[in-house]
Amino acid sequence: MTIWYGGDYNPEQWPRPVWDEDVRLMNRAGVSLATVGVFSWARLEPRPGEYDFDWLDEVLDLLHAAGVRVDLATATASPPPWLALRHPETLPVTEDGVRLAVGSRQQYCPSSPVYRERARELVTRIVERYADHPALELWHVNNEYGCHVSHCYCEVSAAAFRAWLQQRYGSIDELNRVWGTAFWSQRYDSFDEVQPPRTAPTFRNPTQLLDFDRFSNDELLACFRSEVAVIRERSTLPVTTNFMGFFKPLDYWAWAQEVDVVSDDTYPDPADPLSTPYAAMVHDLMRSLGGGAPWLLMEQATSAVNWRPRNAVKAPGQMRAWSYRAVARGADGILFFQWRQSAVGSEKFHSGLVPHSGTDTRVWREVEQLGRELAALSALDGDAAIVGTLVPARVAIALDWTSWWAIEQPGSPAEVSYLRTIFAWHSVITSLGLAVDFVQAEAELSAYSLVLVPVHFTLTDPQGANLAAFADAGGTLVTGFGTGITDENLHVHLGGYLGDALRRVLGIWIEEFAPPAGADLEATGAGEAPPVPLKGEVLGGAADGHVWAEFVRVTDADTLATFTDGALAGWPAVTRRASGSGSAWYVATLPEPSALRQLVEQLVADAGIEVPAPVATGEQVEVVRRGGAVFVINHGADEAEVLVDGVDVLTGGAASGLRLPSQGVAIVVGSSSGEAAGG
Ligand code: GAL
Repeated sequence: MTIWYGGDYNPEQWPRPVWDEDVRLMNRAGVSLATVGVFSWARLEPRPGEYDFDWLDEVLDLLHAAGVRVDLATATASPPPWLALRHPETLPVTEDGVRLAVGSRQQYCPSSPVYRERARELVTRIVERYADHPALELWHVNNEYGCHVSHCYCEVSAAAFRAWLQQRYGSIDELNRVWGTAFWSQRYDSFDEVQPPRTAPTFRNPTQLLDFDRFSNDELLACFRSEVAVIRERSTLPVTTNFMGFFKPLDYWAWAQEVDVVSDDTYPDPADPLSTPYAAMVHDLMRSLGGGAPWLLMEQATSAVNWRPRNAVKAPGQMRAWSYRAVARGADGILFFQWRQSAVGSEKFHSGLVPHSGTDTRVWREVEQLGRELAALSALDGDAAIVGTLVPARVAIALDWTSWWAIEQPGSPAEVSYLRTIFAWHSVITSLGLAVDFVQAEAELSAYSLVLVPVHFTLTDPQGANLAAFADAGGTLVTGFGTGITDENLHVHLGGYLGDALRRVLGIWIEEFAPPAGADLEATGAGEAPPVPLKGEVLGGAADGHVWAEFVRVTDADTLATFTDGALAGWPAVTRRASGSGSAWYVATLPEPSALRQLVEQLVADAGIEVPAPVATGEQVEVVRRGGAVFVINHGADEAEVLVDGVDVLTGGAASGLRLPSQGVAIVVGSSSGEAAGG
């Protein structure tokens, strides 16, 4: 077992002599895994049906001779120009009817039978040739599905959408019922009349939009499956495709079922002060998608990227600190895009492991240091082992792509960012030093003591029943605003929202939404929505609420905080109902961060979870327990001091009293604090 180290290797961008230097430098840096061939379709099949594998044979042999394992790509992420020039219908079309052109990448319609067939043919050749190559460790299917083209509105897609709808609904009457086409005279007489939700005069049918999101996810997943089927016929090696964190178009719960190992690309902005808590949330998602299993950080940057308007470099030590942030949260691989920084092309100003300026550089020295350290960490075993170990959590947040798609549709009661709401809860819990998993609302929840359900807009009856059963069985359930407003087809749960099961377990119903609203911006320019004032001991006194508010009616619950102003004055903002030995809380707004922290402290206590004692001084010190180790990472500008006993495996010295500079890391084993892993 090892913590993989390396990145995307694109030798086709370089003359042959450079390849020898590449493997020499890979050995120097401790590179153990190279992702090869991601964008090499045009090189592998320069003309339709004419294949050239000689160069790739040589690359794989070179890597093998150097002891570098290979994550071999199926090379289907960017078709060569000849595909679109011969088959223009393979080019994707936007919702406005614009057909996208060649000369960039990912220019294929996911539903195109021609694209899928040519891709399958290429994969067949690759698999036949390399399935038994001794360098192979992993298959890398395509690349970042949907990154640039997640929805295609062309005629080929339209036909595929109709077939998908026919399968889902069976009859056009059923589609009309579910889509609610009685509204605005939208009735269809046959499936032939149904279109993708292209740009239209005003609000498009919400259920049509939602189904098109589902369909678009399914079409990309079908592309993935079709390549995987080819691989599985000839190879038993594991398969992955690289995810992109919280990527709205793809429901990664579905995708995660089909990969052997979860892998993720993540490029937090070094200029963003919230990068650390946000990346922590992304890493927690990746661990959760795999059911807790170790995952791979497939791509990150050694320093700057090139695709932001302004591309901040990483501070000295930051690449290392951020890499340990991923390891702490369950990664067993630290990889980068890309090995050698390009000299030409759109990404030539994106950092690499080998920078433009060569090896006498701070980036290269950090690359070598991290390679050495990860190799040493990989060798630890027994109580000190890190590779393969878990990050146990007693807190979970329900995450639901359908709700994400739905609440952000035009026509919702308020402008709600699904992700920011989830992030607000996640960052407060992690700031207490507690581990958090993401779960599906229908999942088995008995491993958790506290489950939070923010903005679960489209709640199915089984999901509602599962969440209620969790509280009935002794769990602490926290339901946030915007939950259970509709079912999975966007039909409103009548009679007070929330659905029957949550209404019962929460002991409330909702009379009306009253989200804070600024005056109509276009008319008066009056600006941002004002906060809604509220107060309650549970929030630490008076506080502001944001994003949402509503008129909550209590039937069988205690009111722990109330709104204090305007039409809402005196109405409940936070409620709690004891439910057997558990409890069910409702929070009708998004309290400001300090109040949310107060609230979370109560929730954690209510759930019987102990907040771990501080492990280090300092404001921006991240503390994560993985296996028997405590990771202490100083993201702040000032020095921090480690307060726990045990040994720092990075230095071999005593942990207690260790002074960590900015970007400093300690990995402490044998501390009494580590035994509390998972809270
Ligand atoms: C990813 C992609 C890579 C590279 C990288 C740059 O989206 O998979 O090929 O473009 O971003 O940050």
